[in-house]
Parts: sequence; C-alpha cells; structure tokens
Amino acid sequence: MTQKFNAQTRQNDNQFWMHPWEYMASAGQADRTIITQADGIYVQDDTGARMIDGPAGMWCTQIGYGRKEMADAIAEQVVKLTYINPFSLSAGPPAQLATRLAQMAPGAMNHVFFTTGGTTAVETALRFVHYYNNVKGRPLKKHIISRSDAYHGSSYLTGMVAGKDRDKSFLDITMPQVHLLSTVNPKRRPADMSLEEFCTARVNELEAKILEIGAEKVGAFIAEPVQASGGVIVAPNGYFKRVWEVCRKYDVLFIADEVVTAFGRLGHWFASKEVFGVEPDLVTCAKGITSGYLPMGACLIADRVFDQVSGDNAKGGSFAHGYTNSGHPVCSVAALKNIEIMEREGLLAQVRELAPHFQQRLKSLRDIPLVFDTRGIGLLGCVECTVRGVEHSGMSPEELLALDVDLGARIDRHCQEMGLMLRPIVNQCVFSPALIITRKQIDEMFDIMREGIVRTMHDIEVDLGYSVA
Ligand SMILES: Cc1ncc(COP(=O)(O)O)c(C=O)c1O
Repeated sequence: MTQKFNAQTRQNDNQFWMHPWEYMASAGQADRTIITQADGIYVQDDTGARMIDGPAGMWCTQIGYGRKEMADAIAEQVVKLTYINPFSLSAGPPAQLATRLAQMAPGAMNHVFFTTGGTTAVETALRFVHYYNNVKGRPLKKHIISRSDAYHGSSYLTGMVAGKDRDKSFLDITMPQVHLLSTVNPKRRPADMSLEEFCTARVNELEAKILEIGAEKVGAFIAEPVQASGGVIVAPNGYFKRVWEVCRKYDVLFIADEVVTAFGRLGHWFASKEVFGVEPDLVTCAKGITSGYLPMGACLIADRVFDQVSGDNAKGGSFAHGYTNSGHPVCSVAALKNIEIMEREGLLAQVRELAPHFQQRLKSLRDIPLVFDTRGIGLLGCVECTVRGVEHSGMSPEELLALDVDLGARIDRHCQEMGLMLRPIVNQCVFSPALIITRKQIDEMFDIMREGIVRTMHDIEVDLGYSVA
C-alpha cells in the first residue's frame, strides 16, 4: 500500500510539479528524492532511509523537525484567529513579534515590515529605497550595487540584484540601474595578493563604482553578511564593516540581507552587528524566523531612515506596498514559538560553542585531493570539489559544468547511502544543519562526508578515467 502510494507520489511529482530552478531538459523525469517524514535533524525518504538533513531544509529548520509544541501553538492559533487583513487591522501575535524583532535588531530599527519570505523581504527593502529617495526629492538616486555570487531572491527586482553565473537561465538578469561588483571569495584572488590587499581592493572597488555612477545616483548597496547560495563565501576580515563605512560616507543605504545569517546561524539573532560590527539601514530576514514551520519574512528599517520619510517628513505619501499575508497571525505565532524554544534551549550559545569544532572538522577535509576549498563560519559550511587541471584540458564551459554537476551529484548519492543528505549546488556541497545538532552528530556528519568524497574520487578515477590524486 505504502509502496503504491510512493510510486503515485513520484509519478504526480514528475508529471505536474514544476519545481524551483527546474532543469528543463529533464523536466518530468527528475525522480526527486521523496521525503515522507522528519524529526530533529533527520529526514526520512520513501524507502525508509533516514538521513541527517545537511542543509536543514534550505538553511531554515533551526529548531529541527517535528516539534509537538510548535504544532500545538499553530493549531491553537488557527482555531482562535486564522487571518486578519493587515492593511487595515492588527492582532496580538504580529504586533508582539514586531516588538521582539525590533528588540533583537542590529541597532535602532523599530520598524518591522512583515513579508511572506526572503524574496518579498528583499523586494520590500529595494522598493523602500526607491520610496525613500523619491520622498526626499532625489528621484535619480535609485542605482543599486550588488556583488557577484549574491543571491537575494526570485522576483523580477531581486533576481536582478543576484550575481550567480553558472545557471543557463534564459531569464533577463540585467537592468541598467543594477551594478555587480567582483566576487569577494578569497580563494579567487590573484595568487600574489594577500588577504588584506584583497579586502582593500574589494572595498575600493565599491567606492570607485559609487564615484563612477555618481553618489547622487546610488540608492543602495545590498550584501549578505555571508554569501550563502553563492557557496558560503566569507569575505576577508573587516570587509563588511569597511563597505558599510563607504556607504555611510556617500549617503548610500546599506541593506544587509540576513535571510540565511539571522536566527542563530552564526550564534546570534542577527549577524550584522554582533559578528561584523555593522548597523545597517535595512535588514531582511526569513527562513529561520519560523524554522521553516510556516512561511514568513521581514524587512527591518532603521529609525534614522524611517524618520526621514515619516511624520512631518512624509509629504503625504503612503508606502504603497504590501502582501495579503503580511503579519499573518498563524505564521507570527510560529515565529514567536520558535524564538521561545531557541531561548529556552540556549541555541545561540550552543551554536557559538559548537562552531569551532564544526569549522575544524570542515577544514580537515582539505587533505582529500578532490577538495578544492572548504570555507565556513558558525554552523555554515561549504566544501567545493573539483577535478584539478580539467580547466586547462580543452573542455568547453558546458562540459566543465556537466562534470562539476556530476561530481556534486555523486558526492550527494554516496553520502545519502551512508545517511547524510547534502543537495549540492553544482560542485559545492553547502550545509547548515539544524542548530540543535550535537557534537557527536557533527562528527557523524563529517565522517560520512569524508567517505562520500573519497568514494566519489574513486568513481572519477575508475568510471571517468581522470587522475585526481
Ligand atoms: C540571502 C537570501 N536572500 C533571499 C533569499 C530568498 O528567500 P526566499 O526563497 O524565501 O524567497 C534567499 C534564499 O535562499 C537567500 O539565501
């Protein structure tokens, strides 16, 4: 019976569900792993195999799966008050959540705009930049500066400020008012450049770009404190604070996209101030805000920015932007319960305590010849694998991409067989386990990962005939 049900699910999925980032050549035949249940840091697939969920969903299941008290809180709110029209009404849970977020925020940020997820949070921030400068009588100050390897969402505007380049997407991804700076990935710096020089070069690049466009035309700079989907890229020490200072110098709003880094990933509610010493003008968050139990996001606005376009400065304007599900009461209750659990279980402190061990285990993978780089911070990590020398072998970019995709898929397959799900981004295995992970489980995770990479290396040599070691 179960087997029949699973087969039906697979057929329905293949036939009717067009997934995010659908690879169109194999649409209808993707045969995705079907997850049937989950608890704690584990997921179980339709064959009954139980695996550590390496990426915690998509960097989001902070408190782990299957919490009964979360289910009870959500159920209670569904019965009590399912919905309110957020354009004209209010309710206890979103008002209380806004207060909590303002208290946790990096700096004086007492204005919380609720959204439905990360994309809508970033879209809100970008549209607010437009609004702000129009109200201030600076209609030209709309250019946005972003960075290579960035990911900020999948709406038209947020897609424009993304900087990932390996997808052959056929989507329009350029806009004259959006400018991308070079990667901040230290591993990609010129061989003769020190980390300090690299950092200065990237900071100077921002300043030069502002001057090239004209500061009077640059509305905002947007940056993830750590570029997550781009492959967990951690910029050199001091970079984030220095680019923030450049923005302040030229009156350019600084948007910190904390969709991944907020809610404990780096051991703090938000990473901007506590980890990087920055008080942004706008902060976006989502994902971990509800630990993935329900969809929600938020855009926080600093008082010094909000005050300039509100009250006596409002010029009669209204920020004509909003969502039917902004501040949804049930999602708000899920976020409040999530915060309560994280506080009660001391998860922020636990992440700070376990992070050095996690990072040390990650770094220790570097001795495997297939590993090109490892990088990470907090409970965020990435291991990037590559067959050395192939870039000079005369292969086309398409062939190189296919080899890298194959590499990632093989590592994932081997790891899944041993009880760890990774879901690589091409040849980069990124992972961000639930924050409740224990030291023993971290060891188990890295032991499997090591073996999965070693087995893949063997495949590459035996099946594909490349020499790796
Ligand atoms: C930094 C960042 N911003 C925005 C988003 C978009 O969030 P969502 O998928 O919830 O719309 C993501 C998603 O991965 C993200 O990593």
